[in-house]
Amino acid sequence: MEILAKRFLRHVGQTSPAPMGITVERAEDIYLYTPDGRRYIDLISGVSVSNVGHSNKAVTEAVKRQADSYMHLMVYGEMIQSPQVDFATAILRHTPEAIDCLYFVNSGSEAIEGALKLAKRYTGRTELISFRNAYHGSTHGALSMMGSEYYKSAFRPLLPDVRQITFDDIASLDAVTERTAAVLIEPVQGEGGYFASSPEFLSALRNRCDRTGAMLIFDEIQSGFGRTGNIFAWECYGIAPDIICMAKAMGGGMPLGGFAASYEVMKTLTFDPVLGHITTFGGHPVCCAAGLAALKYIEDNALVDAVPDKERLFRFLLSGLPHLKEIRSVGLMIALDFGDELLREKVTSECVSRGLVTESFLFCPTAMRIAPPLTITESQIREVCAIIVEAVEKVLKNG
Ligand SMILES: Cc1ncc(COP(=O)(O)O)c(C=O)c1O
Repeated sequence: MEILAKRFLRHVGQTSPAPMGITVERAEDIYLYTPDGRRYIDLISGVSVSNVGHSNKAVTEAVKRQADSYMHLMVYGEMIQSPQVDFATAILRHTPEAIDCLYFVNSGSEAIEGALKLAKRYTGRTELISFRNAYHGSTHGALSMMGSEYYKSAFRPLLPDVRQITFDDIASLDAVTERTAAVLIEPVQGEGGYFASSPEFLSALRNRCDRTGAMLIFDEIQSGFGRTGNIFAWECYGIAPDIICMAKAMGGGMPLGGFAASYEVMKTLTFDPVLGHITTFGGHPVCCAAGLAALKYIEDNALVDAVPDKERLFRFLLSGLPHLKEIRSVGLMIALDFGDELLREKVTSECVSRGLVTESFLFCPTAMRIAPPLTITESQIREVCAIIVEAVEKVLKNG
């Protein structure tokens, strides 16, 4: 095992200066198992991916069935592949009425890239606006939209004509003008530390985009597929964007992403130039079969309906934690904010040593992330919260 860990650090490209380094042999539902028999609870769903639990049988069976039929056939968009068609149709039942066309890609970053290109192409404009503390991915275009100079400056020059404004601040919307191609927003900021837009702000943003002709893009890559108590977060607000980006939980544990818009808007990528966006593997049939099985599992087991009760139970069991500054939550996106980076760091490492995998947020190091698989049960929530309470008590006792 030690040798495997050494080879992991030496031969598998690393950008984290301190990877968790847990060796996993098997994963099931909310649990990860190590070769020496330790069991960890995954409290963050592999960062908002495993919404239906790890190695969900409905998903693994669909993967096997599809792999036995066919895998890659041809670059994206040429052959008719029923897993793509069926999954697109199933997803578009949960998008605003006007959004009826989905372009499949491989990841969240790629979904953002496609959506930005689509907005530029449709509006004929170049300016792109996003928000401070926003995270949209790590490729050049997505990175340009990130709301943190720390992570961007070493990689400049990035996309031109991009600006960041203040999240949830109606006054900052004056920056959106007739020059703006698109405003890109996470309705609930993920890496910012689970801050939700207020309904007033999103409504003002929608109005401003309507008045100026800018397209409104929702990044639902972290909030999608049930996490907020709706399949997509736009439904929490009843505010329809022009484009929705999705990925992470979309593939039920397999790599998959997509950006969805109206057929009329999407069509602009087909002409002048033709092939306005190209992907080899986007919408891989095995990933689409997995994603469809995962979405069906969420629907058949009413996982979304159970989210509010689970959120309430977490809040009830954790709100009395000593030294807790705030609990923020939208469904099973829950941030325990201690207002103190060192304290949060000690609590998360105590949790990990007690078999509970959690972490912080890229732009909010004072808060701990709780985003378990949506399959988590009431008794598992009680077990998890007891571990967190014990971890906080031990850290406070030891100083
Ligand atoms: C809100 C949001 N958008 C985009 C991305 C990028 O997705 P990916 O890592 O699949 O490229 C992430 C990843 O964490 C994300 O949280």
